[in-house]
Parts: sequence; structure tokens; C-alpha cells
Amino acid sequence: MNINRKPIFAANWKMNKGASETEDFIKSFLSKIQGQNFAAEIVIAPPFVSLPKLADLLHSAATGQNAHAIQIAAQNCSQYDSGAYTGEISVLMLREFFVHYVILGHSERRSIFGETDAVINAKMKKAREANLKPIFCIGETLAERESGKLESVLRTQITEGLSGLTEKDMAETVIAYEPVWAIGTGVTATSQQAQDAHAFVRSVIAEIYGADTAGRIRIQYGGSVKPGNAAELMACPDIDGALIGGAALEPQSFFEIIANGCAE
Ligand code: PGA
Repeated sequence: MNINRKPIFAANWKMNKGASETEDFIKSFLSKIQGQNFAAEIVIAPPFVSLPKLADLLHSAATGQNAHAIQIAAQNCSQYDSGAYTGEISVLMLREFFVHYVILGHSERRSIFGETDAVINAKMKKAREANLKPIFCIGETLAERESGKLESVLRTQITEGLSGLTEKDMAETVIAYEPVWAIGTGVTATSQQAQDAHAFVRSVIAEIYGADTAGRIRIQYGGSVKPGNAAELMACPDIDGALIGGAALEPQSFFEIIANGCAE
């Protein structure tokens, strides 16, 4: 963590929690964070169908003045504007529900749904056109790491995924480094492995966009983050928050990750 970059903790609920479970979670989570003044940004990415409920709950909580500002993220968006794209959701539709962030390039989108760097790049551009802030995910598989390809894989994902995006876009972008072998497996990267990868990612951003942009961009770590490892990860100088799957499904553990991470 670096005091010049506000840490960002984002819950990626994946295909979990419809509207009623969203409501249960938010009521409990808001009661936990009430009165806390975390120097961090908190983001929740529910499934699309739960976005209206989440927006409503956060809006009424804010007017009831007990909400730590929680930002809403989508887990995906279409690279197209509108029209004959069955099953897709456009960036403008997301804006109607006060969505500010969108997770793009998640390894599950890449490996299960076949999203290429080119598709992810098109989505990144579309998100920026609508002034959404991308949480741009990158990361290597275990085979890639073991065969010495970590840096080349990350470099390709960065250069192709961010192609055509400007420094101004980068000021509104968060990168999430998520080693695929650590996602949902219970195996976390060691803080040294994470720090090394984050420093490398920041150096590639510096090559493309310059040192200023690289020094400002926030890079989250993702992959089996839990209350027990959050503090150690957040103590690393190039780790600026976390993207959390499984452990963000329970209000208590999401809360503890933020509290432990911010205690650093
Ligand atoms: P995990 O997922 O925390 O369950 O490993 C992280 C992610 O996929 O973003």
C-alpha cells in the first residue's frame, strides 16, 4: 500500500446472490461499516439482475446517512452499443443503475467464455466511452508461470487489452492482478510473488504511459484473499487493494478483509 493511492476493495460476487440475497448482505454489511472511516474505496459487483436492488439499497442508505460510500460495479459489459445482441447488456443500461465500475478481462471470462485480448480491449474502450471505470483483470496460469512466461503473458495482456487507451483513461482504470491458479483455489500467491508481479505490471504501465500514470494507477491483488492474508498482502508497496470472490460473499469476511487491509 502506498499513501498516495487510495486502496480499493471490490467484491466480485460472480454468479451468486439474486435480489433478496443482495438485500440480506447489504443490510448486514452496512451495519458493520457504520461509523467506520476506512481510508479505502469499497466496491460491490453483483450479478446484473441484482443491480437495481443494490442501487436502491445504497441510495436509501445514503439518504439515511449511514452509508460509507459504496460504489457499484458490473461484472461485464457488451462491446456493442445496442441492437441485435441477444443476452448482452450495454454500458448505457449499466449507467442507469449508478454503476461506476465494470470488471473486464476476468480469467473466467477469458477461459470459460473465450474472451480474447481483442474483445476485452473493445469492451475497455466501450466502457470508457460511457465514462465507466474498468477494473481490468490480468493474470497467468500455473503452467505459464512454471514455464517462465509470467512476464510475457502479463505484458501481452496489458499491451493488447489497453491498446488505444489514453493516459486519461488510465487515470480512471484499476488493474487487478489475479494469478489464475490462485482464484477460488484457496492457494494465495505469497506476498512476495504478488509484490513482484505488481511491480512488473507497474513497470509496463510506466513504459507505455510514463512514470506519473504508473505511480498513480491502482493495482489490486485477487486470488483467495481472506481476512487472514489481507494485511500481509496490503503491506506490499505495489498492492493497492483487492478483488475478492469467495470471501466477499459473507458480510463479515468482506468487512474483515477491508478492516485488516486498512490496518496496514
Ligand atoms: P477468489 O476470486 O477470491 O474466490 O479467489 C477472486 C476473483 O475471481 O476475482
